Amino acid sequence: MSEQALATRIDGLTKEYVLKSETVRALRGVSFDVPEGDYVAIMGPSGSGKSTLLNMLGCLDQPTAGNLFLGDDNISQMTDDQLAEIRSRRIGFVFQSYNLIQQLTVVENIQVPLYYQGLLGTKERDRAIMLAEQVGLGDRLDHRPNQLSGGQQQRVAIARSLVNDPYFILADEPTGNLDSVTTDEILALFDDLNGEGRTIILVTHEDDVAERARRIIRLKDGMLHSDEAVSDERRETAREMQAAAALAVKNKQGLAC
Ligand SMILES: Nc1ncnc2c1ncn2[C@@H]1O[C@H](COP(=O)(O)OP(=O)(O)O)[C@@H](O)[C@H]1O
Ligand SMILES: [Mg+2]
Repeated sequence: MSEQALATRIDGLTKEYVLKSETVRALRGVSFDVPEGDYVAIMGPSGSGKSTLLNMLGCLDQPTAGNLFLGDDNISQMTDDQLAEIRSRRIGFVFQSYNLIQQLTVVENIQVPLYYQGLLGTKERDRAIMLAEQVGLGDRLDHRPNQLSGGQQQRVAIARSLVNDPYFILADEPTGNLDSVTTDEILALFDDLNGEGRTIILVTHEDDVAERARRIIRLKDGMLHSDEAVSDERRETAREMQAAAALAVKNKQGLAC
C-alpha cells in the first residue's frame, strides 16, 4: 500500500501550563495523523484540550513534549520566528466570530494574509477575487463586513483562509454564530472544498455538524478518547436532515413574510 501524504502528524503531544500553585496537564500524549484531503471534527467536553490542540495545530503555541509535523516540518523544534512564518504562510484560520477587518472590503479582507508577506500586486488581487467567486461572493467584492450577513462574512473568512494555500483549514466552531439555514450553507461549502481535496480540521460541540466530517476525534481529559470514521451513509443522512431542517425554517420565514 502506498503511503498517503500527511497534512499533519501528531505524536505524543503534551501540553502543560505551569501556574503558581499547580501544573495543568491540558494535553497528555495525544497522537493521530491527518492525511491530506481528510475532514476531521474534533469534539470533547469543555476543558478536554480542544483549544490547546487547535492552538498548536495553528502554530500559535508549542507543545511541552511530543512532536507535531506539518508536512515534513516538525513545529515542536521551531523558534518563535519560524512558527510565525509558518502561521502566516501555511495555516488558514476560520473563527466563530469571523475576525474580519471592518474598514476593508471583501476582496481586501481575503488578501490580508498576503499583505503580511508584502504581496500586494494584481496577481494577488486576482487570486482574492477568484476565491470570493468560489465562495459565492462574486457580486459582493467591494462590500464591507457590516454590509454582509453572518453567513456571507463567514464565507469571506473561509476565502481568506484559502489565500495562502494552507496545509489545512483550521476552523474553531465555524457555525457557532449561525442559524440553521446558514449553517447548512457553510457546511455545504466545506463539503465542496473538501471534495476538491482541501483538508479541514474543525472543532465543534454539535453532533450534527461533526457528522458532516469524514472522521470524529473525541478528546477527554487531555487524551484521545476515540477516533471514529463517519460512514458515507451517516454523512449523507446528516446532510439530508440538516437540509430538511433548513428548508423548514425557510418555509416558515416565507409564511411569516
Ligand atoms: N493559558 C492557560 N493557562 C493555564 N491553563 C490553561 C490555559 N489554557 C487552557 N488551560 C487549561 O487546560 C485545560 C484544557 O483547556 P482547553 O484546551 O481550553 O479545553 P477546551 O477547549 O476543550 O475547553 C483546561 O483545564 C484549562 O483550564
Ligand atoms: Mg475551547
